[in-house]
Amino acid sequence: MWGGRFAAGPDAIMEAINASIGFDKRMAKQDIEGSRAHAAMLAAQGIITDSDADAIREGLLTVLSEIEGGTFEFSTALEDIHMNVEARLKEIVGEPAGRLHTGRSRNDQVATDFKLWVRDQMDVATNGLTALIEALLTQAEAGADWVMPGFTHLQTAQPVTWGHHMMAYVEMFGRDLSRFRDARVRMNECPLGAAALAGTSFPIDRDATAQALGFDRPSANSLDAVSDRDFALDYLASATICAMHLSRFAEELVIWSSAQFRFVTLSDRFSTGSSIMPQKKNPDAAELIRAKIGRILGANVALLTVMKGLPLAYSKDMQEDKEQVFDAADNLALALAAMEGMVRDMNANQPNLEAAAGSGFSTATDLADWLVRVLDMPFRDAHHVTGALVKLAEDNGCDLPDLSLEQLQSVHEQINADVYDVLGVHNSVSSRMSYGGTAPAQVRAQIDRWKKALA
Ligand code: ARG
Repeated sequence: MWGGRFAAGPDAIMEAINASIGFDKRMAKQDIEGSRAHAAMLAAQGIITDSDADAIREGLLTVLSEIEGGTFEFSTALEDIHMNVEARLKEIVGEPAGRLHTGRSRNDQVATDFKLWVRDQMDVATNGLTALIEALLTQAEAGADWVMPGFTHLQTAQPVTWGHHMMAYVEMFGRDLSRFRDARVRMNECPLGAAALAGTSFPIDRDATAQALGFDRPSANSLDAVSDRDFALDYLASATICAMHLSRFAEELVIWSSAQFRFVTLSDRFSTGSSIMPQKKNPDAAELIRAKIGRILGANVALLTVMKGLPLAYSKDMQEDKEQVFDAADNLALALAAMEGMVRDMNANQPNLEAAAGSGFSTATDLADWLVRVLDMPFRDAHHVTGALVKLAEDNGCDLPDLSLEQLQSVHEQINADVYDVLGVHNSVSSRMSYGGTAPAQVRAQIDRWKKALA
C-alpha cells in the first residue's frame, strides 16, 4: 500500500492492531459523500479534469451501491474504509481514481467522515428527544389535574399533579435537546482540505466542499482541524447527561410499577414475564434504560482519556475514537425510542395516585400556611402547631383531614372548620399557583408553551 518506501508487508499482529475497517465501515456513506464533494471541487478548480471527476463521482456511487447491497469485499490489508473505497474505485474506473487523493489526506478525510457521522447522530438524538417530549406532553395533558404524592428523600412531601411530574421530565429532556442543538452548531465546520496537517499547495476551494457537505464554513486552522475530536466529546457529554435523565425516569417507572406502589401499569409490549414465577411482570425495558448510562458514560470517559495528552496534530491514537461513539449512539437512540414507547403505552392509575396523594400527612404544609394566613401566626409557630397535629393524627392512626374539629382545637383553640378546605389534596395543588408550581392551571400553561416551542 505504501509503494516504494516499504520492502516488507506488515506482521499479522501489526495488521490486526492497525486495521479499523472492522468498525469504520460504518462511515462508508460519509466517506463517499466527502470524496464526491472533493472530486467535484478539484475539477471546478481545474486541478483535475471534468472527465476524471465525472468518472470518480460515478464510480463512487457504484462503490456505495456495492457496500449497501452487501456485495463489497472489505479487506483488512487495506486498513480502513478510506483505503477500501479508494482501492475499489481504482478497480472500477482505473487511472482517474489515483487523482482523487490530490490536496487531501486521510487525516482530514477521517475527521470529515466522522464529523458527518456524529452530526447525523445529533439529529437522531434531537428527533428521539422530540418524540419523547411529545409523548410526555400527551401524558401531562391527560392528567394535568390528577393528584399524586410529591416526594423528597422518596418520602411523601406535598401533593403534586401527574401533569406537573411529567412536565418535570419535559424540562430535563428539553435541556438535552438544546445541548445537542448547541453542539451541532458548534461542530459544523468542515475539516476537509486541512490535508495531513498543514493545508495544501493546490488551489483548493474549501468553502465549496464545506458548503457541499452542509457545513457552515471550513475550519480555520488545519492543525486543529485534523486533531479535533471535540465534536464527538460534545456528543458524548450530551448523550451522557441525557442517559442520566433517562435513568432517573426509568427508576421512577420501576418503582411506580411495583405491587407496592401501583402508580402505573406498563404495557405488555414493554415488559417481560418470569420463567419460574407466573405472577411476574417485569419492567425490563425500564431497567435496561436505567443501565444504559453505564456504557454511554464509559464511552465519554474512554474518548476523553484517548485524547488527553495527545500532541498536535493527528496521532493514530485517534483511530480509537469511533467504536465507543458508535456504541453510545446506537444505545442512546434505542433507549430514547424505548422510553418513548413506554411513555406512550403507560397507564397511570389515577385512583391509586389520588389515594397515595392524601396519605402520609401530605397537606401538613398547607395546614401550616393556613395558620399563617388566617390566624396570622409566625411560620415557625405554625410549623410547631402543625407538627403537634401530625403527631395527634399519627397516634390516632388517621390522616390530617380525618381529625375532628375538637381534636384540632385541642392543639390550638382558634382553628376553625374552614381549615378542612386546605387539608384536601385537590385544594392543596390548586393553591400552588406560583409560576412553575403544581397547580393544574400552571401545568397547562407550561404544556401550551412547550407545544408552541415544538411546533
Ligand atoms: N483509520 C484512520 C483513523 O481512523 C484514518 C487516518 C489514518 N491516518 C494516518 N495518518 N495514518 O484514524
